[in-house]
Amino acid sequence: MSLLKKHSTLEKNATLLLLASLAVVTVGGIVEIVPLFYLQNTIEKVEGMRPYTPLELAGRDIYIREGCYACHSQMIRPFRDEVERYGHYSLAAESMYDHSFQWGSKRTGPDLARVGDRYSNEWHVQHMIEPRSVVPESVMPSYAFLMDKPVSVKGFSTHLVANRRVGVPYTDDMIANAEADLRAQADPDADTSGLEERYPKAKVADFDGNRQALTEMDALIAYLQVLGTLVDFSTYDEAAGYR
Ligand code: HEC
Repeated sequence: MSLLKKHSTLEKNATLLLLASLAVVTVGGIVEIVPLFYLQNTIEKVEGMRPYTPLELAGRDIYIREGCYACHSQMIRPFRDEVERYGHYSLAAESMYDHSFQWGSKRTGPDLARVGDRYSNEWHVQHMIEPRSVVPESVMPSYAFLMDKPVSVKGFSTHLVANRRVGVPYTDDMIANAEADLRAQADPDADTSGLEERYPKAKVADFDGNRQALTEMDALIAYLQVLGTLVDFSTYDEAAGYR
């Protein structure tokens, strides 16, 4: 019996065909799925990424609590109009320490993946207090109340511990210093050498312009100002060899 004849037996017998198809699909499935269990990481590492500082992490919690993601995405797609407007398209590694990630798909406002360093801290304060005072046609709500809400510093290290449980590489040193680092980043007079060593490129500033208090506005703006600033794309492109 030639191979073709054997195959025609298979084609004429529905049960046999079903079983044979199942066997083929199983082999294909195993080949695709099994390697995933042996990979340490499915995300390509890029230079510059580090976990959020405690103040940025606090700001990120506020961003989620206030539902900013309902109007803002944080993922620049590799389309010409987006790359020209926002900068290099987002890399998976840029949200590897985000639990949960903030990619989003609702774009009532601009994408925020690279909003860090685009505006001054003063602009952000003004914009968060009354968006229409700086962008007259804006439909963004006011978040002025963040100026009056203190950040809860006590016990903040537990946020880092929780993130470490899901794989963010916070060290014991970072966890032990979480509360001090949280305060120091919003205080230009503080000794921030430890903070800067633990978190390279951490921006230290009195973000909300109010020296008396450490407010949720400080935290939120510290978070906005770090978005998209950790990877240096002038060197990344050369190393990766594509664009
Ligand atoms: C109802 C939708 C809506 C919500 C909710 C919202 N925004 Fe916006 N946002 C907008 C719109 C529209 C713009 C563009 C106009 C402007 O700049 O105000 C904008 C602009 C911005 C900008 C300036 C971006 C740029 O590149 O110019 C930032 C930063 C920002 N929003 C942050 C936030 C944060 C933080 C929150 C949550 C606390 C938030 N937004 C909640 C609609 C929203």
